[in-house]
Amino acid sequence: MISQELNDQLTRVGPGTPAGEVLRRYWQPAALSDELATERPVVPVSLLGEKLVLFRDEQGELGLIGRHCPHRGADLCFGRREDNGLRCPFHGWHFDRNGQCVEQPGEPEGSEMYKKVHTASYPVIERNGIVFAYLGPGDAPDLPALDCFEAPTTHVFAFKGLWECNWLQAMEVGIDPAHASFLHRFLEDEDPADSYGKQFRDSADGTDMPMTRLLREYPRPDISVEDTPYGMRITALRHMANDHTHVRVTNQIFPGAICIPMSREMTITQWHVPVDDETCYWYSMFTSFGAPVDKDTMRAQRLKEHRLPDYAPLKNKSNQYGYDPIEQGRETYTGMGMDINVHDQWAVESMGRIQDRTQEHLGKTDVAIIRNRRRLRAAIKSIQDGDIAALPLYGDVPLSEIRGPLSNDAIAPTANWHAASEQADAARRAVCAWLAPEAEAGE
Ligand code: FES
Ligand SMILES: [Fe+2]
Repeated sequence: MISQELNDQLTRVGPGTPAGEVLRRYWQPAALSDELATERPVVPVSLLGEKLVLFRDEQGELGLIGRHCPHRGADLCFGRREDNGLRCPFHGWHFDRNGQCVEQPGEPEGSEMYKKVHTASYPVIERNGIVFAYLGPGDAPDLPALDCFEAPTTHVFAFKGLWECNWLQAMEVGIDPAHASFLHRFLEDEDPADSYGKQFRDSADGTDMPMTRLLREYPRPDISVEDTPYGMRITALRHMANDHTHVRVTNQIFPGAICIPMSREMTITQWHVPVDDETCYWYSMFTSFGAPVDKDTMRAQRLKEHRLPDYAPLKNKSNQYGYDPIEQGRETYTGMGMDINVHDQWAVESMGRIQDRTQEHLGKTDVAIIRNRRRLRAAIKSIQDGDIAALPLYGDVPLSEIRGPLSNDAIAPTANWHAASEQADAARRAVCAWLAPEAEAGE
């Protein structure tokens, strides 16, 4: 458990807050490209407690500016999209994509007041279905060369969902490998051949045992954590009955993302992004090392569970997450259906909007959660000391060399488990078309 003071420090995200200043040093997902694929690409964005509007202008360029007009505060989401900017419908003030006011048509002829008026504006970058924003000081850093960014757009599907809780407790589920044996337990196994687009339904590399059965039968993982230039690598070992060990490697990409295996073919890179102190979005990039992703199938699977335009889950607190006690007895551990996102959502939302960490009791399997809080505290201190180079992703290793990360499930003889993940990763990469373009070109 931690003090109330520290809990506040780690969870609050507005401008000037300690954790908010850490989060602002990193690119944060602001919207899905899908949200802008409309006749009028203008969407509200609430990010880190700030109210913004994202739009694509007539030239296809993106702008992310303050949502409330600096004149008298009207909502620019209803702005007229013209002349490569947004024009406020109230009195016609016009803003370019950098937030500069360029015209005040109702002010006296010759007035140059507009030159002194500008609203917030932040850099954005669009990659593989997600528009990222940088809300921090100084120049925005590059993105690291992670698989989800390096893969061609054909091999990445992006989606998001709204959770009614603070970002840190959402993050702390992603770095908790122990919960999968319980929260996501299925009492019966599906055919791994029907696993497309779903997590924990495939079999682990090196076996035909479905992941559902493996997680169910071996619920006591031995978890270790190592710091990396991007955050941390988490290794969960499940020692099996036959002198074999299941190795699951997942990652935290500091401060708010994880990279985890989804199936033998795909990984999920998932950001937990604060909307404000009490609400967050998860944004995921599903990255395929095999065939191009079937975006239509994956989008349809997820849109069945979410409401647009805010991507709020249809199962939620108001309908008890679909809880069915009969199902809980026969089919699933939660009684909340087969979609593991709903399980995670219940876990994090049921803690309350901001988990009261003064009352928790962390165990040995919470090692990554403890380490992450330490790193977040260290990052807060580094920023307060002006030592930015001490932050993950700001160190000596160039971002172009921060690749992968390795993220998979493998089963190997216990004596050889150290090599199992590397071997599985190397085998996957060796046949991945987009990682070996020279090999393809030379065929
Ligand atoms: S409030 Fe926007 S122009 Fe007046
Ligand atoms: Fe989970």
